[in-house]
Amino acid sequence: MRSSSGYSSFVLAQKFFLHYFQSKTIYKAHSPFLFDYFSEIIHPSKTKQIKEVETLRKDLLCDHTILDVQDFGAGSRVLKKGKRKISDIAKSALMPPKFASLYAQTALFLNARTILELGTSFGLTTSYLAKINHTANVYSIEADPSIYRQSQKNFKVLKAKNIKGFNGLFEKYVPDVLGQLDAIDFAIIDGNHTYKATMRNFNLMVSKISYKGAIVIDDIHWSSEMSQAWNQIIQDQRVRLSINFFYSGIVFFNTDLSKEDVKIFY
Ligand SMILES: C[S@@+](CC[C@H](N)C(=O)[O-])C[C@H]1O[C@@H](n2cnc3c(N)ncnc32)[C@H](O)[C@@H]1O
Repeated sequence: MRSSSGYSSFVLAQKFFLHYFQSKTIYKAHSPFLFDYFSEIIHPSKTKQIKEVETLRKDLLCDHTILDVQDFGAGSRVLKKGKRKISDIAKSALMPPKFASLYAQTALFLNARTILELGTSFGLTTSYLAKINHTANVYSIEADPSIYRQSQKNFKVLKAKNIKGFNGLFEKYVPDVLGQLDAIDFAIIDGNHTYKATMRNFNLMVSKISYKGAIVIDDIHWSSEMSQAWNQIIQDQRVRLSINFFYSGIVFFNTDLSKEDVKIFY
């Protein structure tokens, strides 16, 4: 479900076909980094689903308990003020297993020690990050109190111990959490999909990103504001390599890499 600020299904389909025809195949990687990343991580046969997380996802999809969800303003893909079923939120708000796994494995590929996620929701992507990177510290921020409480329950069920959750707005907690950390190695921006908030959160995180770090931006084709933010991010000179997977994209900061932008159909 998309709010009025998101692209219509027709525009999204047009953009998707364009992306498909412009995509590079995984066999056409030229740089050694991309070649390794493609062959070790991106290939669909490498996708690792975590059984217990996927069992929990199935349970949430069948859980019709009503949560009182707050409204944090424009750009929140999921939050419509009022009563929402857990099953509806689980259906519409969470990163699919393929991408949760892809990004958690990317963090492992980069040997990430410190990971920050903006937008915990029920904590399923957080759990992928924490379980696949079990020696890393995973920090995650979620504004909605009832969604946050559900994520905490889920972390207990999944025995995911290397996660520290924060209940509050990115506007307050992103600077607070970054202020407590020396550096971050991997981050996911998955909430508050406005141009202004995305650029603000991105710039704050870049100020702490480690030399070989990477940042994922979700919903880059959700609206014209998100397309604008993504286009600006990939042109940023601090970004060396960007990979556009259509629904989300990842940018790498390793200065050993030459500037490159790649589209992948995944
Ligand atoms: C798309 S969901 C996150 C999904 C999650 N990363 C996953 O894949 O499982 C986005 C979440 O961001 C939260 N959110 C939106 N705007 C926020 C803000 N300004 N501060 C904190 N959390 C916010 C919403 O409450 C929502 O639960």
